[in-house]
Amino acid sequence: MRHSIENVEATDKLQATGNLGPAVVQALLDAGFTVTALTRIDSKSSVLPGAKVHKTDYSSIETIAEAFKGQDAVVSTLATAALGQQQTIVDAAIKAGVKRFIPSEFGMDTTTIEGGAKKILGAKIALQGVLAKAAEENKGFSWTGISTGMFFDWGLKVGSIGFSLPTKTATIWDSGDEPFTGSNLAFIGQAIASVLKHPEETANKYIKVASFVTTQNEVLALLEEESGTKWTVVNKKTADSEKLGEEKLARGDYSAFGDFLKPLLFGDGIGAARKVGQLSNEELGLPKEDLKKTIKAALA
Ligand SMILES: NC(=O)c1ccc[n+]([C@@H]2O[C@H](COP(=O)([O-])OP(=O)(O)OC[C@H]3O[C@@H](n4cnc5c(N)ncnc54)[C@H](OP(=O)(O)O)[C@@H]3O)[C@@H](O)[C@H]2O)c1
Repeated sequence: MRHSIENVEATDKLQATGNLGPAVVQALLDAGFTVTALTRIDSKSSVLPGAKVHKTDYSSIETIAEAFKGQDAVVSTLATAALGQQQTIVDAAIKAGVKRFIPSEFGMDTTTIEGGAKKILGAKIALQGVLAKAAEENKGFSWTGISTGMFFDWGLKVGSIGFSLPTKTATIWDSGDEPFTGSNLAFIGQAIASVLKHPEETANKYIKVASFVTTQNEVLALLEEESGTKWTVVNKKTADSEKLGEEKLARGDYSAFGDFLKPLLFGDGIGAARKVGQLSNEELGLPKEDLKKTIKAALA
């Protein structure tokens, strides 16, 4: 079975490796899309079986456009460090007559982000302007930006939301009671597939989805309950994290992004989840996710 965008047989091109890519490929295959993955010529990553593979050096609009011929949609899951290349990919998509471009967003709402994080994600923000202009100027071309909050199940494993599973240590920022949004990788894949199945409702929009709205303290309580033990808690101040981020950025160290995220997500009173506003979960028919089950799976 194949689903369609604007009643045309749908196929998709995407970067299909890395942290998010495989979940996206899986969700698109599961939804019945024909998937072709773009991957670098010298990439060591492998693409999930079921997707076709197209090797590229991303060197010119023409060669990428050749790869995009006949595709209805392009989903970019390019690495943050490679986001500067997306402009060429957009130009190639337009040249090839692609109907929908989904840029590599998949994080905090970059339409409202502030401070040092905004500087680091400048390429994502700049591309939104490029896409809006391209949609105005090219009939048939459209885009959808998708903000997901933190990668949640991935973040639990790599420690990006403050928890170290191997050492059972929680780093709690400020009070730990500030609500933030997060999405599991498979859920993000499903959101992308659903956007492509709802082309009209999602055209030329920046939407937000999330598996959960939660707090660090709620996650900690569930981790303790599910692991059957008390965790070591380290309390930190988001103001200190922001300061550290500024120091790192001043010396050109972009790992500062992680430090800037702490106040934006966990800072007392910052209202990260409130600022996200209306989620599109329901409109996209996304499944209800279970926080406890996600935590149990991460611990297993
Ligand atoms: N919300 C969150 O918590 C969170 C966390 C992480 C990432 N993100 C966002 O999600 C998106 C995808 O991130 P990710 O972590 O999945 O990316 P990633 O794993 O770092 O990289 C994805 C793919 O990009 C390709 N790539 C890497 N460097 C490249 C280069 N210099 N030129 C061309 N291609 C390159 C590689 O594909 P090949 O090897 O196949 O060529 C790689 O597998 C980004 O926008 C990122 O900012 C969000």
